[in-house]
Amino acid sequence: MRIPSARTKLVVLLGNPLGHSRSPAMHNSVFDKLGLDYLYLPVEVDAQNLHSVFSGLKRMNVAGFNVTIPHKQRIMPLLDDIDPLARSIGAVNTISVEQGRTRGYNTDGEGFLMSLQQELGPGAIPDRVFILGCGGAARAIGMTLAARGTSRIYLCNRTLARAADLAVDINALAANCAEVIEPEPARMRPALDDSRVLINATSLGMAPEPDNLPLEPSVLHRELVVADIVYNPLMTRLLELARSIGCRIVTGRGMLIYQGALAFELWTGVAPPPDELAAGFDSAADAHGSAVTENPDSTK
Ligand SMILES: NC(=O)c1ccc[n+]([C@@H]2O[C@H](COP(=O)([O-])OP(=O)(O)OC[C@H]3O[C@@H](n4cnc5c(N)ncnc54)[C@H](OP(=O)(O)O)[C@@H]3O)[C@@H](O)[C@H]2O)c1
Repeated sequence: MRIPSARTKLVVLLGNPLGHSRSPAMHNSVFDKLGLDYLYLPVEVDAQNLHSVFSGLKRMNVAGFNVTIPHKQRIMPLLDDIDPLARSIGAVNTISVEQGRTRGYNTDGEGFLMSLQQELGPGAIPDRVFILGCGGAARAIGMTLAARGTSRIYLCNRTLARAADLAVDINALAANCAEVIEPEPARMRPALDDSRVLINATSLGMAPEPDNLPLEPSVLHRELVVADIVYNPLMTRLLELARSIGCRIVTGRGMLIYQGALAFELWTGVAPPPDELAAGFDSAADAHGSAVTENPDSTK
């Protein structure tokens, strides 16, 4: 293990709780492998201390931050600058610090797209997409896909008002791209028939209730690529079902790894080999056991 010195650059994960986060193992193992003098440190902080902790940390030898639940929005007014995509998403999960200036990014949507491209082919932008769920992760994915050229995004959520809000924001970025679909099989079927990719961005299917399905099985068809961003478990009921009818599937592991790879590059200027990050991620998952019990909303 590398011994930190006064010259070691810090990358700090801010969130609460962080007890079972896999990011320290993932990033520190790659810093070690690549011989980079960096240390990734989880720091639990509550909302009332976020400002003072962040102000102090950014004056230290810090190259950047990850930010997770519950601070992804709250951190934004504390930053000097925000990347336009992160601003349009309305949440920051990565911060770079250069010459004392902080700049916020959101790598979740790009990380998802990169993991999808493992299945669709390098550089492929899915044309017609159906997103189940309209929470924070769906927002990052939807805004990113719209910004990258997806022409049609169907948004389906239990709370319709939340889907309507996201549709307004997506359509402000890409006119006529988003359409709200009521969560009824009869409404979902034609939109799914028109879609190439289905993304489950709800928390349905996640431990401790892995048997929950986010949709009625009969609306699936075998031409869909089905992505589930739930990563605990990785092989969700939805993915099992999709695979059984012949769909290509994408698990949530790639999104976690690629959002981390993009952040790593922002802090260090070095693009890490995804296989190395994956190995660090998997060793952390092994250490915690396969039924991960960390804050289920925390991807960091
Ligand atoms: N693989 C990755 O890298 C990655 C990254 C981020 C998140 N995730 C995972 O993605 C999932 C969503 O995360 P998030 O941050 O977007 O959470 P969030 O903001 O809390 O959103 C949760 C979404 O799930 C829906 N939902 C929850 N319970 C439901 C139920 N019983 N019936 C129908 N819909 C329900 C919510 O609908 P309402 O709006 O109606 O409440 C909302 O659309 C979590 O499992 C998280 O672990 C994975």
